[in-house]
Amino acid sequence: MTIQFPQKFLWGGAVAANQVEGSYLKDGKGLSTSDCTPNGIFGDIIDRSQTDITSIKDTAIDFYNRYPEDIALFAEMGFSCLRISLAWSRIFPNGDENQPNEKGLEFYDKLIAEMAKYNIEPMITLSHYEMPYQLVKQYGGWGNRKLIDFFTNYAKTVFNRYKGKVKYWLTFNEINMSLHEPFTGVGLARDSSKEQIYQAIHHQLVASARAVKLCHQIMPEAKIGNMLLGAVAYPLTSKPEDVWATHLENHGWLYFGDVQVRGYYPSYMTRYFKENNITLTITEQDREDLKETIDFISFSYYMSCCGTADSSLRQKGNILDMVPNPHLKASEWGWQIDPTGIRYLLNLLYERYQKPLFIVENGLGAKDKVETDGSINDDYRIDYINDHLVQVHEAIEDGVEVLGYTSWGPIDLISASKAEISKRYGFIHVDLNEDGSGTLNRTRKKSFYWYQSVIKSNGNTL
Ligand code: BG6
Repeated sequence: MTIQFPQKFLWGGAVAANQVEGSYLKDGKGLSTSDCTPNGIFGDIIDRSQTDITSIKDTAIDFYNRYPEDIALFAEMGFSCLRISLAWSRIFPNGDENQPNEKGLEFYDKLIAEMAKYNIEPMITLSHYEMPYQLVKQYGGWGNRKLIDFFTNYAKTVFNRYKGKVKYWLTFNEINMSLHEPFTGVGLARDSSKEQIYQAIHHQLVASARAVKLCHQIMPEAKIGNMLLGAVAYPLTSKPEDVWATHLENHGWLYFGDVQVRGYYPSYMTRYFKENNITLTITEQDREDLKETIDFISFSYYMSCCGTADSSLRQKGNILDMVPNPHLKASEWGWQIDPTGIRYLLNLLYERYQKPLFIVENGLGAKDKVETDGSINDDYRIDYINDHLVQVHEAIEDGVEVLGYTSWGPIDLISASKAEISKRYGFIHVDLNEDGSGTLNRTRKKSFYWYQSVIKSNGNTL
């Protein structure tokens, strides 16, 4: 079959501020929760204002200074879209100020202008795994209702600044992640109770809906979406109890989408909250706010997993604890590779919500070998993305409305879970080693030319 993606399909890549920018305290930026997990999301939480511990993220790939070169390389690949995130603590260093830090905004002014030069559509995530650390220290993170107002003020500031320049917005990256890592997700201690975590999540869902409302008011021409970690689970066996356990497992992430798309809590959560002794404080105003729903759904997809009634089969994964699928191979980091899963997920979400979908993260983290002539033959990365894109096309043929695809880490960046640089995702290599040494020079990998031809042919060379 000849593959052709829709005419206006957006092709590109996705990065996050704390994984690329570096310059972690420059121009007035405040400490963020990401700065306080110097060894990644699953490493220790350290108040960096009290120690001189450093992190590879402090410099990262120096995107803060090198973005013009990087955007030019993305343009050379033919990107029509680049997903970035704003570091909230560049704009509101402590998070609770009334007035923003002008220097922080100026950086994003320049970055967005650079993209405009090449007609690259920016997609902005307001909060990608970070928030001002002061909000955790002083207010207790999202456990405190005041954060809704602080976030709303931040959203309003950047919407007013970038109206007419940015059409695609996302509120919280992988909003369902808080159930697995509450510090990164909602700024809560790891030993917080389920009730505390769900209350903080509730505040975040309200803040997200308020941002959606502001976006609609300030930029009627823009579109705003949510962002789910698409951890779709298949039943491990056809045993009815495994099928039911899988159904519940999928509620663990679909519940976020249900609230953000439908504007109210799904009924199945009533039983879940009751059985887990969770009583949430939800005001009438919260219920009203939640009614403002998103325009499209975005998600990350790296792997699928299995659901089973036998909890002893769970294994500690990189990000989530999961039950592996015996039919799939895994990456070096144990992430199981399942291209069909992306078709399944796209269909599942579309049938459930009938909203346009955007794949905002997908890719393969792998160790690359630099040959003596400097080339990098990353056929494994090409194969991974190729196979997934073929399935995205299948989903489009199934009738699913897919707005675009931004691969994760089009340039090597610092991994989120363990702050590694050797787990590389890029089409562009960055000369940086785990100990921080390296020239930071950028070079094109084999996959760079491959992705360029895919974009140029609108999918036909897949
Ligand atoms: C997603 C995050 O969970 O997965 C990204 O949104 C992250 O920030 C990506 O980088 C891949 O995970 P990791 O740990 O390999 O960087």
